[in-house]
Amino acid sequence: MSDPEDKNRVAIAKTAAAAKKKAAESPDARGAAARHAPEPEPAPPAPEPAPEASAPEPAGLPVLRCEHVFHRYPRAQGGYQLVLSDIEVLMRVPDFVSVVGPSGCCKSTLLRLILGSETPWQGTVEAGGRLVQHPDRNRGIVFQRYSLFPHLSVVENVVFGLELDETWLLQKYLTYPWYRRIHRRYVELAMEHLRAVKLDEHAQKYPHQLSGGMQQRVAIAQALIMKPTILLMDEPFGALDPGTREDLQVHIIEAYEQHRISVVFVTHDLEEALFVGNRLLVLSQFYQSEDGRPGEGARIVMDVPTPTTTSTGDKQRGEFKEFVAEVRHRGFDPAQRQRVAQFDLRAAQS
Ligand SMILES: Nc1ncnc2c1ncn2[C@@H]1O[C@H](COP(=O)(O)OP(=O)(O)OP(=O)(O)O)[C@@H](O)[C@H]1O
Ligand SMILES: [Mg+2]
Repeated sequence: MSDPEDKNRVAIAKTAAAAKKKAAESPDARGAAARHAPEPEPAPPAPEPAPEASAPEPAGLPVLRCEHVFHRYPRAQGGYQLVLSDIEVLMRVPDFVSVVGPSGCCKSTLLRLILGSETPWQGTVEAGGRLVQHPDRNRGIVFQRYSLFPHLSVVENVVFGLELDETWLLQKYLTYPWYRRIHRRYVELAMEHLRAVKLDEHAQKYPHQLSGGMQQRVAIAQALIMKPTILLMDEPFGALDPGTREDLQVHIIEAYEQHRISVVFVTHDLEEALFVGNRLLVLSQFYQSEDGRPGEGARIVMDVPTPTTTSTGDKQRGEFKEFVAEVRHRGFDPAQRQRVAQFDLRAAQS
């Protein structure tokens, strides 16, 4: 990101983000997302109605609730290892939660439990008031890489999920004129999403013809076109150079505001976590029980609001650096194990 101009863009995005967050609490706030909804289509002469797109949840409603979640994996030598212990998370619309923690503390596992590709050993995960038992279109995910279909063009990649979810093979053949109309509309919608990530001119290329940053933009468009209520991101910018990374950080803040989705953003980069999120979860295996025994299974040892940042320059502020140091101390240092009663869980309790 070239300095003054792009810092300015970051500042504008963050300021706009704050203003929009306020507006998001009003009932009119659904406008932006609604503008992306497809026009009502005459009912197809097909046997069943297509599944409905998810609508944004009203502000303040619980969008995600993990209650007493414990998870374990089988050990190679037999038995099980507890990897997550008593995870409690409540997210309300619209929340942007960053998740950090030492390598191997189960950040990706937690995302898989929220996605529904794994179910917890004990406890429950609810999204939009419904028990999560398998992945569905209400929860989109962006991985660090390899999430695009190599044999599909950029625009086909973006359209793919929508088409898979809303049309079915028999319907395509039985109602071909209707299907062609619908397909055209999906492509128009995909082009809107590609314009938003400045890739409309690359719509006909294939993933191998794009840079890593461009591929991640396609993956973001691919997730957002489904209008998920929760967007899960697992180190989405981990493989990118710093400039592209900052550009995409701003993009995801803008998308969060525009689509009014809730975001769970896993990253290794603490500064990135604080910059994009309005709340920080620190997951760690480095803690001790009240009787001084080392903790078993990672727990949320911090759940706090992030310091306000309006530009990338804010990372140099003393307050920001102190916050980073405290997070490292509480969550990343095996020699500094806090007791359960010492966890800072302000955001969870508010
Ligand atoms: N399917 C599985 N079966 C057995 N063990 C697993 C499985 N999936 C993950 N694990 C183990 O669980 C632990 C946490 O893995 P996970 O990938 O969730 O951590 P992470 O915090 O995302 O790590 P990283 O920061 O390196 O991405 C690791 O020790 C891993 O080996
Ligand atoms: Mg991981």
